[in-house]
Parts: sequence; structure tokens; C-alpha cells
Amino acid sequence: MLRRDVRRRMIRVSPIRAALSLTEFTEKGFTVLSFFSDDYALLAPSPTTRAWVEVDLAAIQKNLIAFRASLPSDCGIMSVVKANAYGHGATQVATAALEAGTEWLGVATVAEGATLRAAEIEAPIALLCPFAPQEAADVLLYSLTPMVGDFGTLEALASAKTAMGHPGFPEIHLEVDTGIGRSGILPGNAVALWREAERMGFAVTGLMQHYADADAPAEDPNRRQLELFFSVMDDLKAAGANLDLYHVAASASGLRALPLLSLVRPGLLLYGIRPPVPKQENQPFLTPVLTLKARVATVRELPAGHTISYGFTHTLSRASKVATLPIGYGDGFPRRLSNCGSALLNGKRAPILGRVCMDQTVVDVTDLPDVSPGDEAVLIGRQGNERISAEEIARILETTVHEITTCLTSRLPRVYV
Ligand SMILES: Cc1ncc(COP(=O)(O)O)c(C=O)c1O
Repeated sequence: MLRRDVRRRMIRVSPIRAALSLTEFTEKGFTVLSFFSDDYALLAPSPTTRAWVEVDLAAIQKNLIAFRASLPSDCGIMSVVKANAYGHGATQVATAALEAGTEWLGVATVAEGATLRAAEIEAPIALLCPFAPQEAADVLLYSLTPMVGDFGTLEALASAKTAMGHPGFPEIHLEVDTGIGRSGILPGNAVALWREAERMGFAVTGLMQHYADADAPAEDPNRRQLELFFSVMDDLKAAGANLDLYHVAASASGLRALPLLSLVRPGLLLYGIRPPVPKQENQPFLTPVLTLKARVATVRELPAGHTISYGFTHTLSRASKVATLPIGYGDGFPRRLSNCGSALLNGKRAPILGRVCMDQTVVDVTDLPDVSPGDEAVLIGRQGNERISAEEIARILETTVHEITTCLTSRLPRVYV
């Protein structure tokens, strides 16, 4: 049974109602700590929370403003908030980004777009990824702008438009496959797709592509993709198309000395994460946004020779003090950090010992004499003079930095600071 005072502050609502309610509840003084696919848990920030994610929305706005200052004046910004804004909370990030002047939002799925619409966000929302034909009606219903890269998708949208009796000319952008190979029309067929879209009653207002290797050390592959894109732009213009928007770049390519055209689509940069591209002049200063924290559950003294966690993968070489943190891969804290990652405690690094479990991680605090149960450990972010960045974790795991925050699960409450 929940205590009465806790129960009073925890409200369950339907998904659509939840998104609608967000502003209502925050206006009433609740802090939304957690978003699940089917409910919000609304609890005031509590010293009893075991592990959580802090998101600095003002830092997102600073990053957006700093990035804008590095752009040509005629280039707009589409803030990419797909996958729950890379784990930061889509509605909150979208709202902050709009306040800071972003012109567009970008999502991956129809449901992500619908969630933003349910939160009364009226800004243009690009649906960046392909969708199944069954979803076409919802694309139109929620006024999402799909990136259309094949005739099948166009037909699905046209059927939905007819079935709904849609009176207008829904906006779409065309996607051209200049080398990404996962979606988009091949350059030679782009004009035919444009003609068909116009004939079917769509307003084609943009053309886009995505780089396949934007953070590669060499720029040549990007330049090749860009040249193909320019050739499609020329073909469309020659055929009579007059599009408003051309967008080719995300964060990494947004930092390179490549043309950005009329709109750029940053994700990582908003979240204060620098993609690993060679340094150029005039790069924006980024402020870190996300901190992952857990509270020390126990501190124990163990003898030399004792083994730690599953699989006996670590044996203590000395009598040690170990702290158990109540966080694990069930929270999205990567199991691959077993025996190689660390947490910050009292502003110092405490190495992870043994395997990261689903719900617990053991760290060595032998050299940190003042660690006690209840202390805050930082697993991503700064504590004192030390910092563990998402970029550092991505390097250890040899993965893209996108994965690190995106995989933090809904078990971790999001706290907006
Ligand atoms: C089509 C598209 N545009 C923009 C982005 C944002 O990328 P980034 O987070 O690297 O800026 C993504 C992310 O995967 C994407 O798929």
C-alpha cells in the first residue's frame, strides 16, 4: 500500500490525457518526475529516490542559442526530439527548444509526434523515419510532415487522405537516398516522385537527405553525398519544383565546413554532446545537460580474495570497502561497463568492480574514506572537479554516444532542474 500522502501526489492518466495534463500538473506545482509509455508518475522530488536522471532544460536552450550563433543567418533549426528526446523527455525538451526559438521539431515515430501534439505543441513536426502504411492516417491526423522516399509511402498517404476526406494539401518533404541506403528515393527517380506527389494533392515543401558517415575523419564521403543532393535539387528546379526547405545535416555535419542549406537537424548538440568530428573554428560552446545519479545503498568491508558480483569476474586484491549502488542495466546503465567503468563519489572516481547487474552495481571506495549509505553517486555528469561524460562512456563501449542517454530506461525518474 502506498502511504496516503504519496498516493495523493501520484496520478494515473491515459497516455493522451497524460500528455495533455503535463502543463496542467506542472502549473499546479507538481514536478513530473517520470514518464512511462502508459502513465506519468507525479511525485515531488524526494530524498528517497534511489536513482534518477537530472535534466537541465536551461542548458538545452543555451546549446541551441550557441549553435544558432554559429549558423548562417538564413539557416533554421529543427530540434531532434526522437526517442523521448534521446532519453531526456520529449515534451519538456520540445517545449524548452521552442521557447529558445527552434523552428521545427523532429521525431522518429508517429506516436512521438502525436504525444507532442497532445501536449498542445503546434510547431511544425517532421516525421524523420519511414512508417508502415497503417500509420498513414495518423500522420495526417496529427499534422506531421513526413519525409517521403518511395512511391508506396506516397500511395499510403494518398489513400489515407481520400479515406479521411482531407480537404487540404498536406505538406510533405521528399527524402533522397544519396548513400545512407536505409530510406529515400534514388536520385534518378526523385523528379518522378515529386510529380506524383503533386498530382496526388500533396504540397512538397522540402527535400532532405542524411549523411551515412558524418563524423568520419575524412570529408570526401560527405561531399559525394552532398553533390548527389545538389544534382537532385537542380533536377527538381529544372522540372519546375519550387521548394522552401533543403536540409542535409545533423549535429556532426552541422559542425563541419559543409554547406547547411536552409535547415539543420541537431540532436546531440542540443543535449550538450559533441560528436567526434575534427575541431573547426567557430564551434559552439556546449553545456552538459544530463546527470545520472544513484544513492549509495550499502557500504561494506570485504576481505582480500573475496569475489564481486556474477561470474566471479573480479577478485579483491586487498581488504576493501565497497559501495553498492542501486542502479544497473535495468535502468539502462550499460552492463558493458562491468570492470571498466566508474562512478563519482565525493568528487572522486570509484571504479566499478565485477559485473554490472540488472539493478545493482558495486564500486570500490577503499580510498574514499567518507562514503556512507545515502550519498549521491554520479554515473554520468560532474561531481566536484571530476566528470564522467556520455562521450567517455561511448568511447569505452565503442559505440555511438547517442546510445548512452537514449537507453536510460523509464525506471529512472526524470527530474527537471
Ligand atoms: C534523419 C536524422 N536527422 C537528424 C538526426 C540527429 O542526429 P544527431 O543527434 O547526430 O544530431 C538524426 C539522428 O539519428 C536523424 O536520423
